[in-house]
Amino acid sequence: MSQGKLTGAAVAEHNSKNSCWVIVHGKAYDVTEFLPEHPGGQKIILKYADTLDKFLDPSKHLGQVDMATVEQEEKAFDPEEEGRLERVKRMPPLAACYNLMDFEAVARQVMKKTAWAYYSSGADDEITMRENHAAFHKIWFRPRILVDVEHIDMSTTMLGTKCDIPFYVTATALGKLGHAEGEVVLTRAARRHNVVQMIPTLASCSFDEIVDAKEGDQVQWLQLYVNKDRAITKKIVEHAEKRGCKGLFITVDAPQLGRREKDMRSKFSDAGSDVQSGDGSVDRSQGAARAISSFIDPALSWKDIPWFKSITRMPIILKGVQCVEDVLRAVEAGVDGVVLSNHGGRQLETAPSGIEVLAEVMPALRERGWDKRIEVFVDGGVRRATDILKALCLGAKGVGIGRPFLYAMSAYGLEGVDRAMQLLKDEMEMNMRLIGATRIEDLNPRLLDTRALLAGHAGVIPSDTLGLGAYDPLEAPRFNEKPKL
Ligand SMILES: Cc1cc2nc3c(=O)[nH]c(=O)nc-3n(C[C@H](O)[C@H](O)[C@H](O)COP(=O)(O)O)c2cc1C
Repeated sequence: MSQGKLTGAAVAEHNSKNSCWVIVHGKAYDVTEFLPEHPGGQKIILKYADTLDKFLDPSKHLGQVDMATVEQEEKAFDPEEEGRLERVKRMPPLAACYNLMDFEAVARQVMKKTAWAYYSSGADDEITMRENHAAFHKIWFRPRILVDVEHIDMSTTMLGTKCDIPFYVTATALGKLGHAEGEVVLTRAARRHNVVQMIPTLASCSFDEIVDAKEGDQVQWLQLYVNKDRAITKKIVEHAEKRGCKGLFITVDAPQLGRREKDMRSKFSDAGSDVQSGDGSVDRSQGAARAISSFIDPALSWKDIPWFKSITRMPIILKGVQCVEDVLRAVEAGVDGVVLSNHGGRQLETAPSGIEVLAEVMPALRERGWDKRIEVFVDGGVRRATDILKALCLGAKGVGIGRPFLYAMSAYGLEGVDRAMQLLKDEMEMNMRLIGATRIEDLNPRLLDTRALLAGHAGVIPSDTLGLGAYDPLEAPRFNEKPKL
């Protein structure tokens, strides 16, 4: 202690799973009991700093720390970071972004390396990630002409909530990697455009901060990673319902997190320097995703569904369903919806795109007269309103959009996300006119040519960028540099 304050050395002694102290904004906290809920290291806990102050039992508030005694990490000169800062100064104006891909192109240049790596990465060779968007290009329209399209209404309902346009902001973890304010930026943008936001379990802002940021009758859903400790899961679900969430999206495609090599390669230095060191429970070379996800229960199964139904009245939706059989099983299990999704290509490599699964699922549901028993959503690779229209024509109730809003937020903040959503609305209105549909109810499979999609993957080999880049090509015989005398 120095002048009644703790020293840096005293805090540093508590650096294990059994006794773990952290310093946040000059105060020390004992977070040992907090760790199972928020595993993943000190820097992750930092993102929950305000939560700590509010919710950690007062007995765990250890008091002020004499910051002069805390060893500071020295920042080495980083040419890459210097280059990035220089690019930030030369960023294109927001008005120069005309579509969702433009935000990605800008974000790639101006985001911090670790943040870009975490947001942009997909599993393994990123074939599924690229296919998610490419699959939409296998569907063509069969537009109708001479329909009176003066007035277009693109509003719809999802799980009983009226929305301006049939997309929602899907759950994406760690919003503060991209923007200092994190997920609340998405909350505000969703409000402006009257669309639903799905709150991620692993948000950087606390759940309550995100709920507090909503206005009026704005609707939010909760994305749930199921904890091995079901008491924690129950607490999260009950709290979400109490705070007004209108849907529980249980992620079912991530019993183990996929290998996202861009993320791993960027060596997630943020993932904790002291906490849990030595016990091997967090491997810091594994990237952000793995560092924060060790609590997820791989034993989650169909047997758990009745329990979820017993603890909440929120509609239950399975997020990450990837084949017809499981959609049918979900209906039988009595859930309210499914999201056909492969987690943005971040989980199983060469899992099919959601839109491809949708084309198989809807006829199977219609055949059984089950298509009104659940709401079917799709996410992955949605970048254009034509993508949204294709999903709706096939029978989806709505689509989730992930990365584009993260990129817009990271590069341009709230105004960026606002513009991204407005661009989608403008594209949607125009394209509904051009295919001859004035209302969402008008969208149907007859407006599509799905022959190329339904032909499946026979004979089509996705481009193997990593393999080709690493391949040392054979060479033809070389000519002499000079003519032989
Ligand atoms: C950076 C990032 C973080 C994500 N975090 C989560 C998560 O915590 N929980 C979850 O269920 N899905 C998560 N997802 C998956 C998304 O909810 C969604 O399935 C995917 O992003 C859709 O693909 P898109 O990014 O091409 O729109 C994440 C996706 C990204 C890109």
